[in-house]
Amino acid sequence: MLSTPMSADPLGRQVAAPILSVRELCVDFKLEHGIVRAVDGVSFDVRRGEVLGIVGESGSGKSQILMAAMGLTAVNGKCSGSVTFEGREILNASPEKLDKIRGSSMSMIFQDPMTSLNPYMRVQDQLAEVLTAHQGKSRKEAIDIAVEMLERVRIPDAARRISLYPHEFSGGMRQRVMIAMALLCRPALLFADEPTTALDVTVQAQILDLLSNLVRDLNAAVVIVTHDLGVIARMCDRVMVLYGGRVMEEAAIDDLFEAPRHPYSQGLMAATPRLDDDVAHDLRTIPGAPRALTGKMGGCPFAPRCERRIERCTIETPALLRGAGGRAAACHLVTP
Ligand SMILES: Nc1ncnc2c1ncn2[C@@H]1O[C@H](COP(=O)(O)OP(=O)(O)OP(=O)(O)O)[C@@H](O)[C@H]1O
Ligand code: SF4
Ligand SMILES: [Mg+2]
Repeated sequence: MLSTPMSADPLGRQVAAPILSVRELCVDFKLEHGIVRAVDGVSFDVRRGEVLGIVGESGSGKSQILMAAMGLTAVNGKCSGSVTFEGREILNASPEKLDKIRGSSMSMIFQDPMTSLNPYMRVQDQLAEVLTAHQGKSRKEAIDIAVEMLERVRIPDAARRISLYPHEFSGGMRQRVMIAMALLCRPALLFADEPTTALDVTVQAQILDLLSNLVRDLNAAVVIVTHDLGVIARMCDRVMVLYGGRVMEEAAIDDLFEAPRHPYSQGLMAATPRLDDDVAHDLRTIPGAPRALTGKMGGCPFAPRCERRIERCTIETPALLRGAGGRAAACHLVTP
């Protein structure tokens, strides 16, 4: 058996090497009137068996981080920095190289199931293709495995339903089909972008528990993006708070919920969900609007809305400082 590669964590302890390492990732979009910086110098690691949450308001750059890693940035976008998967650079990699990794080791659950399900193809053909194209399975084998996976995501009567078209499934069922499709190749790394936002809260809770169990079985690394703190509390080990494309705070889940340190996180956590809640917890509304992502970008991105702002905040961008216990914060007033 191959031994797991090891590396030192921020405390100098020997831990499994990260499966995904993102360093100084920037995503810029070209518009008629200038450049929009949607992601601004984001860095993080994820290891197998770990669930990292990325939380932030609409437009904070959450999806663009995942899109850049998956090689799905829009044509007017440009990515810089580094994204390594199992030690190999994949940022701006060729479509062939990415296709190989995407189909076999890395997959994504999109917010809208119809983004990844083809409405004109029966579900069985879409699921089977994942296994015939990437794992060399025969069609018969592929369909048997797909039915089994549909049963695991609790689609009743899966053997019959697999021959239906996506529109013949309810919204909740389609989401399960998409989760099944993302997990079929037994990915080592799973990205989930608002995987349950479109669903009602009871179905949402069921699907999140299901997803947790499945990724635990696979010992996969997961990056889950959401604006719902309840989803973060339910699923994640660690969380990264994003604002204006920059990381404001990073911490273990319990630390962030018990004692957020960054003024923005404190604002978000003002209505803290309990871990066993079954209700949606959208981010609390913080007065003011996110700053425009175009133009000169000096100072702290949160400054226009921060009640603790000092003069320095509008001039100097706070660096993300790392402290003990894997905590990090980017604020002139916080020592992590
Ligand atoms: N193709 C594009 N051209 C220009 N700007 C874009 C493009 N795609 C995304 N953006 C901008 O990038 C910023 C970050 O978008 P992103 O989709 O990552 O936000 P998000 O945090 O996922 O928000 P939401 O919670 O609404 O999904 C937004 O301001 C968005 O308008
Ligand atoms: S750096 Fe200044 S503006 Fe930014 S969060 Fe800290 S106190 Fe507020
Ligand atoms: Mg998004």
